[in-house]
Amino acid sequence: MKTVDVGGARIPALGFGTWQLEGDDCRAGVENALDLGYRHIDTAQIYGNEAEVGEAIQASEVAREDIWLTTKVWYERATAAQVKSSTEESLRKLRTGYVDLLLFHWPNDRVELKETLGAMNELREQGLAKHIGVSNFTPTLLKQALEIAPVRALQCEYHPFLAQKELIALCAASDMMFTAYSPLARGEVLEDPTLRLIAERHGKSTVQVVLRWLVDQPHVAAVPKASSEAHRRANFDIFDFSLTDADVAAIDGLARGQRIIDPGFAPKWENASA
Ligand SMILES: NC(=O)c1ccc[n+]([C@@H]2O[C@H](COP(=O)([O-])OP(=O)(O)OC[C@H]3O[C@@H](n4cnc5c(N)ncnc54)[C@H](OP(=O)(O)O)[C@@H]3O)[C@@H](O)[C@H]2O)c1
Repeated sequence: MKTVDVGGARIPALGFGTWQLEGDDCRAGVENALDLGYRHIDTAQIYGNEAEVGEAIQASEVAREDIWLTTKVWYERATAAQVKSSTEESLRKLRTGYVDLLLFHWPNDRVELKETLGAMNELREQGLAKHIGVSNFTPTLLKQALEIAPVRALQCEYHPFLAQKELIALCAASDMMFTAYSPLARGEVLEDPTLRLIAERHGKSTVQVVLRWLVDQPHVAAVPKASSEAHRRANFDIFDFSLTDADVAAIDGLARGQRIIDPGFAPKWENASA
């Protein structure tokens, strides 16, 4: 398995996303992902599935210390007291004494970043989170965060239709992991003609081509979500072929500043196509 090595940690570059997986589907899905070899699970307090993720990890034969587990503090729980209670609740639901990565889910300009990240850093010092990071931060906000605390990861939307060069370069320069969320553009990559051509040449699917393109990039991890075993298996089966430089250039060329996740509370994005 390709890893992203930052801050002394070795993180499996291919993870399993769990947004919109709920109840038994989530429990069975995470257990199945672990059976298939996934060792990096991405959840969040707001997903409402931490209890099921925790049950799946407990039921699995894979040891807790062999799994990279990420959860996120919702942006509306940004005061120091809220960060602490949110994380304690997450750990209880996840049935674990620590998460490997605790992310602040979205920026919140109503609470000083110093307060939020300061509280997260205290949790890190107490061992409740091995590492801390942020999600949906712009380059400006990320630079501010780096001044405040040892953020080790940034999670943002990233797929062939949305380039993230500036943020990835910042991560590379700061010993940070960049995690691509919605790496399949929520299914939109499936029908792209350029990707289909490349996929046909390698005897793979467009989804497999995109995931390989992502995890081949230094510092980049990806957390595709899949509801079925067939999709989970396919998404993990991406290491038996290699993309050529021409393939990579063609995929890079698909960027068109297309942002799929853009709620009303999102920050003002900077230079989306850079
Ligand atoms: N930090 C944040 O704010 C944030 C925001 C969004 C997402 N995320 C994280 O990123 C994860 C992934 O993002 P996402 O769920 O938005 O979208 P995604 O992973 O880009 O796409 C998921 C879609 O692709 C389909 N799919 C997956 N594997 C496939 C395959 N092999 N063949 C065909 N279709 C396939 C899935 O269908 P099936 O479900 O039917 O398999 C689903 O419709 C989330 O689960 C979450 O953990 C984080």
